[in-house]
Amino acid sequence: MKTLVVYYSQSGNAQWMAERISSALSADMLRLVPKKAYPEKGIRKYFFGGGSAVIKETPELEPYKVDLEQYGQIVFVTPVWAGTVTPPLRTFIQEENLDGKHFAFAACSLGGSPEKTFSALRSLLGVTGDVPTLWLVEPKRKQKPENEKAIEEFCGKLWRKKIGNKDV
Ligand SMILES: Cc1cc2nc3c(=O)[nH]c(=O)nc-3n(C[C@H](O)[C@H](O)[C@H](O)COP(=O)(O)O)c2cc1C
Repeated sequence: MKTLVVYYSQSGNAQWMAERISSALSADMLRLVPKKAYPEKGIRKYFFGGGSAVIKETPELEPYKVDLEQYGQIVFVTPVWAGTVTPPLRTFIQEENLDGKHFAFAACSLGGSPEKTFSALRSLLGVTGDVPTLWLVEPKRKQKPENEKAIEEFCGKLWRKKIGNKDV
């Protein structure tokens, strides 16, 4: 069973993380795209995106094709918006049946804590046990060796399906 990296990214940082993680794990990627794009510039960007995150909107997504049965693990990657998870991930989690899967969370921000983002994901998914997490600050813009190391460590903590001693 494989890993799927599900992400939303507005300006490329979460996408950068999703690409790194999926290449380290040979995982598939699914980009979530809201039907109505969030504004990308000026005060409207923070007003509409932040407002949507705060009121826990579940925006309609562009259609995507994925056979979730194939995947034993889902890694969610999101920017922090107004301290919490981005709305497209909310929609995905609400619409899909993710019972029995392993999860991991990765977030990027301008420096704001990812803790509320991770706890929102935990509660949306109904997970109670430990979940591996990764947080990076503007990783696409500020590339540095520590980030590569953090990604490697995060990937090392993720679930792997094994046959004998071999990852499959
Ligand atoms: C609507 C909105 C709200 C944001 N809220 C926060 C925040 O609460 N804390 C923070 O540190 N960064 C915040 N940011 C910055 C993003 O989390 C950060 O730039 C992130 O790396 C963007 O990821 P992306 O390039 O994949 O879109 C916000 C950005 C937007 C657009």
